[in-house]
Amino acid sequence: MKLEQRKDLLGLRDMSRKEIELILDTAIPMKDVISRDIKKVPALRGKAMVTVFYENSTRTRTSFELAGKYLSADTVNLAVSTSSVQKGESLRDTIKTMEVMGFDLMVIRHAMSGTPHYVAKNTKMRVINAGDGTNEHPTQALLDMYTIKEKKGTLENLKVAIVGDILHSRVARSNIYGLKKFGCEVRVVGPTTLMPPEIEKLGVKSYFSLEEAINGVDVINVLRVQRERQQSGLFPSLDEYARLYMVNTKMLSKAKDDVLILHPGPVNRGVEISSELADSSQALINEQVSNGVAVRMALLFLMMGGARDEINN
Ligand code: CP
Repeated sequence: MKLEQRKDLLGLRDMSRKEIELILDTAIPMKDVISRDIKKVPALRGKAMVTVFYENSTRTRTSFELAGKYLSADTVNLAVSTSSVQKGESLRDTIKTMEVMGFDLMVIRHAMSGTPHYVAKNTKMRVINAGDGTNEHPTQALLDMYTIKEKKGTLENLKVAIVGDILHSRVARSNIYGLKKFGCEVRVVGPTTLMPPEIEKLGVKSYFSLEEAINGVDVINVLRVQRERQQSGLFPSLDEYARLYMVNTKMLSKAKDDVLILHPGPVNRGVEISSELADSSQALINEQVSNGVAVRMALLFLMMGGARDEINN
């Protein structure tokens, strides 16, 4: 099976388990490429990609750019804050401009849910969703799943707790869609004001007690507290949030002994996760970042039709 048959990657909700497995399996040889002295293969020579981020990013944007370069694609970042977007250019015109320049693929992040879907419908370029509003962040979930599988040997039937602002989290949504396809028991926990009322329709169980939610779990995925939400009155203070929902070393006795701690970053130390736990060997925050490059290489390779024997050159 090839992802070449799929024009775009917009989310995990509509992605099959087989497609997810193909991406995760393809990331394994990509990780090998990254570990070499010369981190470069000719697989995507002659292909061109552009990253267009209307919201800030450190990890996702940089890792897509690096992934493209390692595969020999011509990789350009459109810096939105210094682009003609600031002169009022519409999204539609920006997309068309990138298309006629000859880019094969666009990676886009936007604050408005559904923007990558709109872009995908209006361009011949392949489109990858790098995070749209509160909808999905599929490549984050893929790298989370890769990291879990690498450590546990399987994704099958694991118990995973996702902690924090479930309401606004595109990371939570993509993780739920992805993990449920592997039979995982997914639990979500957070303050009542940050819990979508119909979340259990996605096949998860919701909790308001952190202790109960992490009881016996294999994985805890700690979400970033989106500080801007506090101004909207959705939780009283960061101190109050930390008192009830910060994940720390002490409370891990409730989870399995070999529980893995994930966090998509950027981290608010002392708010959603203690600094001690973030720096511990159980926390895979740095592994997630480096696996993100391999997973994004796999996606670019599969979507832009790289030749498998060229990974070894
Ligand atoms: N996890 C994540 O999306 O990080 P960035 O916002 O830095 O890309």
